[in-house]
Amino acid sequence: MLVTIKTEDARLGMFVHAVAGGWIASPFWRRQFVLTKPAELEKLRDAGIAEIEIDLSKGIGPVAASASPVPVDLDVVAGDIALPDPESPQQLRRRRRGAASAERRAQAVVDASKVVVQAMLDEVRLGKAMNVTALVPVAEQIVESVTRDAVAMLNVTRLKTKDEYTYVHSIAVAALLIHFARTLKLPEEEVSVLGLAGLLHDIGKMAVPKALLDKPGKLEPPEMAVLRHHPEKGHALLSAGPPVPEVVLDVCLHHHERYDGRGYPKGLTGEQLSLAARMSSICDVYDAITSQRPYKRPWSPSEALSRMRSWTGHFDIDLLDRFIESIGIHPVGGLVRLQSSRLALVIEGNDREPTQPRVRVFYDIPAQRFIAPIDLIATIEADPIHRAECGQRWFGERWGTIEADILDGRWSSLESAVPSSSTAKGVLS
Ligand SMILES: [Fe+2]
Repeated sequence: MLVTIKTEDARLGMFVHAVAGGWIASPFWRRQFVLTKPAELEKLRDAGIAEIEIDLSKGIGPVAASASPVPVDLDVVAGDIALPDPESPQQLRRRRRGAASAERRAQAVVDASKVVVQAMLDEVRLGKAMNVTALVPVAEQIVESVTRDAVAMLNVTRLKTKDEYTYVHSIAVAALLIHFARTLKLPEEEVSVLGLAGLLHDIGKMAVPKALLDKPGKLEPPEMAVLRHHPEKGHALLSAGPPVPEVVLDVCLHHHERYDGRGYPKGLTGEQLSLAARMSSICDVYDAITSQRPYKRPWSPSEALSRMRSWTGHFDIDLLDRFIESIGIHPVGGLVRLQSSRLALVIEGNDREPTQPRVRVFYDIPAQRFIAPIDLIATIEADPIHRAECGQRWFGERWGTIEADILDGRWSSLESAVPSSSTAKGVLS
């Protein structure tokens, strides 16, 4: 639907279908486009163009004139958008080349780390004394690599062959813990210790027969019972050697505990578990389900995070949300705010560009109204994701119904729904 508005009412996220005076009068080289930068708004106004025609099916509309029950602070909304410049094709190619060389550097770190980790774990399997100090420089190298380019490191450690799974899984959990700890702004010395804890968390698996670890298909109950002893066996191995930090012992013993007490070996619950234990449980599961295993295909990061969020009681849910934030990948079904101040649901992951999933845009925040759903890939050029949002905080108890209606295309049922003032205020503050 096309609507003519005054140029002074134009705002970011609008799709400009035409400008008054035609294309010749336009200061833009494109005839039609989405307003994504404050500089573009200025350019429109500076060009003396009185009116523009916008397409409501492709972008947001004008702010509703009618009083809304939701008091939105427009300064807060606008102030919290940091719009990046759209990339030119040359910039995009340069970025992709840069990503490839970052991944080569990360791969070199993983390969070097793998040699040390494999040698140490194999010695433990043979019953030899463990030399934990040999892993300290490996942990430091992983810290450095994550600092240099976390995305490259996390991408590289997701790829593992069946034979190297145990070793690379340890490196991956170390990298995930380091990155997660940085997101949580933990002190730098704790970040390094968490890296070491990640490298050693599954050391007890060296006491489990290799045939059992590599078995394709599901384990029988007696086999599962053997496997479930690995945290205690690892803890005993680490306790018997030279002193290691308490966090390393804690993560080794508790990384299979669950928030609801249904984990093992002790069945501890919630606050009985340390922050490190709760973080390690999330990182361990995330890497396991996004990796190639003998008995199942890997889930994409987006699918994995979506499933982890649906497992009631397994994880500390607030911490899981922080983890999702640290990964920068939004799970399928997750609610996100786009740079254009619109709300959207993630409807499909994007394996090539995981931070740019396909989304269904359905709500205009400044106008405080539902809009006819539009599906788009959240690229920098189209409308990138600004941050994750919480559906319950926006729409209260109706969120489940609203979410289902959006996914099923029941658009008409949404038109009368508005977020409650209390929840929306909470989101914007
Ligand atoms: Fe484990």
